[in-house]
Amino acid sequence: DDTVEVDCSKLSPGQQLVVTWRGWPVFVQRRTPEMLASLRVPELAHRLRDPESKMHQQPQDAINWHRSVVPEIGVLIGICTHLGCVPSFDAPSSGDRSGKYACPCHGSQFDIAGRAYKDAPAPYNLPVPPVTIISDQHLLIG
Ligand code: FES
Repeated sequence: DDTVEVDCSKLSPGQQLVVTWRGWPVFVQRRTPEMLASLRVPELAHRLRDPESKMHQQPQDAINWHRSVVPEIGVLIGICTHLGCVPSFDAPSSGDRSGKYACPCHGSQFDIAGRAYKDAPAPYNLPVPPVTIISDQHLLIG
């Protein structure tokens, strides 16, 4: 079986958990209203390489502004699209209410929808795996 079931019941708003799927780390985040609002700031689009994620495949049901099946839960494959390091999660804080990912290897940064910022080497947004919501607190990856 190539799927992984994730229990989100202990995931607090603004936090993420990491599961392994097909040998890859997969980030599962519960997004706050501030995190979601940050994805819609118009000026942000100019700083992103591919704001509408046209260059990279994601499942049909994640082709939307939040790159996920439901806005409140984000799921991303945690492999930097530059050379494959695992980006670290900067959880939202009082200084940065949107949160982000930062790659420790060569400085690429991604917003919480996994979209790559322009001024760094990662060429694509982080991939989104197939996700099925199976209940309020459970989802299936794969
Ligand atoms: Fe992430 Fe190079 S591997 S920036």
